[in-house]
Amino acid sequence: MSEILLDFNNVTMQFGGVTALSEVTLQISRGEILGLIGPNGAGKTTCFNVMTGVYAPTIGSVTFNGQSLAGLKRFEITKAGIARTFQNIRLFSEMTAVENVMVGADARKKSSVGGAILRTPRQRREENESRERSMELLKFMGIADRAHNAARNLPYGYQRRLEIARALATEPQLLCLDEPAAGFNPAEKQELNELILKIRAQGYTVLLIEHDMNVVMKVSDRVAVLDFGKKIADGLPDQVRSNPDVIAAYLGVDDNAS
Ligand SMILES: Nc1ncnc2c1ncn2[C@@H]1O[C@H](COP(=O)(O)OP(=O)(O)OP(=O)(O)O)[C@@H](O)[C@H]1O
Ligand SMILES: [Mg+2]
Repeated sequence: MSEILLDFNNVTMQFGGVTALSEVTLQISRGEILGLIGPNGAGKTTCFNVMTGVYAPTIGSVTFNGQSLAGLKRFEITKAGIARTFQNIRLFSEMTAVENVMVGADARKKSSVGGAILRTPRQRREENESRERSMELLKFMGIADRAHNAARNLPYGYQRRLEIARALATEPQLLCLDEPAAGFNPAEKQELNELILKIRAQGYTVLLIEHDMNVVMKVSDRVAVLDFGKKIADGLPDQVRSNPDVIAAYLGVDDNAS
């Protein structure tokens, strides 16, 4: 039996009259890559927002590592071990690449590296460790050659990978990626696939939101499909690909698009 890392139990999320998620139950096993797909507005990003404490579910609960996430603040959920990237890149544009990653690492530290002006020896040691670890992560993501460039001057593909490096710096158990390949060409998508597999090989569990079927089917162990806030399928990539409900909701539209 595989260990359940995240348990999304019967979650309904309403915004006024809009039901973004309707009775969604979804489990993520430790060590797997779960692809989450669905048409625009299906509720994919809302799943991330509920998991990371941006919104409290209207009904239902989320359990991580056997612990309820109810009432936890975003930073507490980060500390519990869930990290995410955003559909629209959110970096500190004036800070360098390595500094952006250090902000992620900072989320775990006792003393805040970023805010310290007069540094104690311990803070200095922590800052050095944080810088080294952040450089390692930039190398791991293949973007260390631009470590000292301001984030806003980085090529788009670098910015996307920098967001992942920053998320990894929080030392998560679960890494949630919201359309990390958006705007990538096929070669870049292939590279990203390889990176995601490399990340999993390091022991992380990955939840991947993706529009591109080719990306998600190749890289995922399992795929779940949302449509109008409901989960309509959940299974092995080949099963999901041939599921008539999925074809009707999504693949029929997108099959030849990429
Ligand atoms: N804060 C909010 N207030 C009101 N409605 C919201 C809010 N967040 C999401 N929604 C609505 O919930 C539904 C699901 O949105 P969500 O962003 O989760 O979809 P998605 O599957 O990520 O779509 P996309 O592929 O376009 O990113 C949409 O109808 C959206 O307009
Ligand atoms: Mg979205």
